Amino acid sequence: MTTDQTHDIKQLISQMTLEEKAAICTGVNAWQTVPVERLGIPSMWVSDGPHGVRRATVPDDMMAANVPATCFPTASALAATWDRDLIYELGQALGEECIALNVDLLLGPGVNIKRSPLCGRNFEYFSEDPYLAGEMAATFINGVQSKGVGTSLKHFAANNQEFQRFSISAEVDDRTLREIYLAGFERAVKQAQPWSVMCAYNKLNGTLCSQHHWLLTDVLHDEWGYKGFVVSDWGAVDDRVASLAAGLALEMPGPQPRRVQAVIDAVHGGTLDEARLDEMVRQLLAIVLRAQETPKGGTRLNVDGHHALARRIAGETMVLLKNEGGLLPLRGVNKIAVIGVTAREAHYQGGGSAHVTPTRVDVPFDELAALAGDAELIYAPGYKMEEGFAQAMIDEAVAVARAAEVALLYIGLPPFKESEGYDRPDIDLTDQQVALIKAVAAVQPKTVVILNNGSALAMSDWIDGVPAVLEAWMMGQAGGGAIADVLFGKVNPGGKLAETFPLKLSDTPSHINFPGEVGQVCYGEGIFVGYRYYDEKDMPVLFPFGYGLSYTSFAYNNLTVSAKTFKDVDGLTVSVDVTNTGSVAGKEIVQVYVHDHEAKLRRPQKELKGFVKVALEPGETKTVSVTLDNRAFAYWDPRYNDWVNESGQFDILVGSSSADIRETATVTLESTQQLPPLINRYSTLGEWVSDPAGAAALTPIMQMFQAHAPTGSDMHGIDFFSMLRDMPLLKILGWFAGNLPTDPDTMVDQLVAQVHNA
Ligand code: BGC
Repeated sequence: MTTDQTHDIKQLISQMTLEEKAAICTGVNAWQTVPVERLGIPSMWVSDGPHGVRRATVPDDMMAANVPATCFPTASALAATWDRDLIYELGQALGEECIALNVDLLLGPGVNIKRSPLCGRNFEYFSEDPYLAGEMAATFINGVQSKGVGTSLKHFAANNQEFQRFSISAEVDDRTLREIYLAGFERAVKQAQPWSVMCAYNKLNGTLCSQHHWLLTDVLHDEWGYKGFVVSDWGAVDDRVASLAAGLALEMPGPQPRRVQAVIDAVHGGTLDEARLDEMVRQLLAIVLRAQETPKGGTRLNVDGHHALARRIAGETMVLLKNEGGLLPLRGVNKIAVIGVTAREAHYQGGGSAHVTPTRVDVPFDELAALAGDAELIYAPGYKMEEGFAQAMIDEAVAVARAAEVALLYIGLPPFKESEGYDRPDIDLTDQQVALIKAVAAVQPKTVVILNNGSALAMSDWIDGVPAVLEAWMMGQAGGGAIADVLFGKVNPGGKLAETFPLKLSDTPSHINFPGEVGQVCYGEGIFVGYRYYDEKDMPVLFPFGYGLSYTSFAYNNLTVSAKTFKDVDGLTVSVDVTNTGSVAGKEIVQVYVHDHEAKLRRPQKELKGFVKVALEPGETKTVSVTLDNRAFAYWDPRYNDWVNESGQFDILVGSSSADIRETATVTLESTQQLPPLINRYSTLGEWVSDPAGAAALTPIMQMFQAHAPTGSDMHGIDFFSMLRDMPLLKILGWFAGNLPTDPDTMVDQLVAQVHNA
């Protein structure tokens, strides 16, 4: 914002009455902000989001959001592309659609972490990994906002389930919050400055996110330098005055006359500082006015161009999970069984606020037919999208499969198994779908399962009997065509999983603590989420994070690092040669993980800190590079309330997935960080001696302990110094009080002061 604009906004605010200021902080209806005509302040129109514009026909109806727009693949699919350029392009297209549809701000992306595969809304979120999620969100936002249209990064924060989402308190320790649940938001805020951030419905450590001052102001604005405004999730506000004080500028939806009055009364009564209200109005007005700089309407929706883009993006999202004997791509087949109701009625998006009214929908069967040449396609529905079991449908599908050379099984996870508003009951396909897959695979050895779902699935029941599996996600309106492209090899699948597929639900990190009870959900697994957990537990999974096959193969060689020893402030550049060793062009996603050899706090075995997607012709080699900054090596230490870069050795692990590390280098970090001593009067002896200044201060005391330590039978079978290690120095001094020049309290306080002054 320029100084002039700041000045203008200040002036505007000074002309507003208290009533106008209170009113503008709540929506005028479901999708618009309050205009102040007398001062020329327009209203701003917001719409969901995230993967398509869900524009309402009438602004005072929350449900009637059904103006047609392009439905792109949902976030879990988008993350599987690992393709920053493509996500940016998607963002630009969404920005253009907002302009054509008269929308100022798009309510997305959602950057919440996939803590459990059971979260009903995982299809709207990117990943279990905060670095990948944050990178995807940042490029998405930058793409949309490059068109002069705003975004809303949501749902801030720790909104990782649908169960009791309006009331549950996510109980998360500080380090876990910083390293896992806030890190994606932080990255997106710092790299992309979304115009708005949407607070979550839930509580965080006992306080509603909508009135969480630490979250909305201390961390978001003060620490991260956020310049936009906070909007409530729709209906998230409980106490409007408390939420304004906490930093929530806009409550949605409106109107809420009683709450507006409560704000006016609070200012009159002195319980809300008018300056705080002014600051919220300033944050909001800055964006409302910025939105006006880009005229809306007056352009037409690029229906064909964006449908083609949706198909291209969908092609990049597909993850080839299994392809025994090179069954795919299909070659020389004359008779194809196409089984599954989702071949006729594409399952391409999820239910809830992200549900877009598409401009058109590719029918997977028709798209297949268009690429199948002279091959004959025979169809059986196989199952219904509703609950129930119908053996006759399975029998019909088996007959069709038997009569063909290959069976393509289109399996879409029904809405009762996955949607906004409720969590998933399990991570399985329906009983009918499992029985169908098994029965078809039993008669047709060339069976391909094509999955449409938004989050991880368990497959142990059936996958061994099936040679090929394609994860096609909630693929957007043009996904039917993209599936055909992949099946026939027009597109070489290059997507990789942005979330682990576990063997079974009970293996998942949050299993014991999901979805919580008596109003709380304890994030007991801490920082060990997704692959961080499976690595630490040395636990097998169905498909690891970062995994995906291709119709070609890649070799990794010549890992180099810019320095063997480096300073945190300088960072490190990692380069590796990647060669396409197969016979078709393809794309590889090169992943860079960091492993800390030793740290004061327990750390995951590896953490994703960089990635590059590279396109290679057969035989071609390219050198790819990733730069790692100091944050790539840091952990959050709650004792310092800060990120810590510890000196020591790190492995740089470069691989094709989290479980397929191809090249490794060991480097030494020399930290330049000056940290204050942590020693206090309750520190244990072990803590004193592991701190250099503490150890020095304690030398005479240690000598005294040695001299007066009990010996022989007085030891009572204990290793005396091992026992002392975990006792506070103060308590030990109490035992040796007779040998001290002064009382233990004075003595320990003097020693603490000595360490802090050192
Ligand atoms: C959802 C948000 C959405 C809003 C407006 C809420 O129920 O949680 O993601 O943007 O509704 O539709």
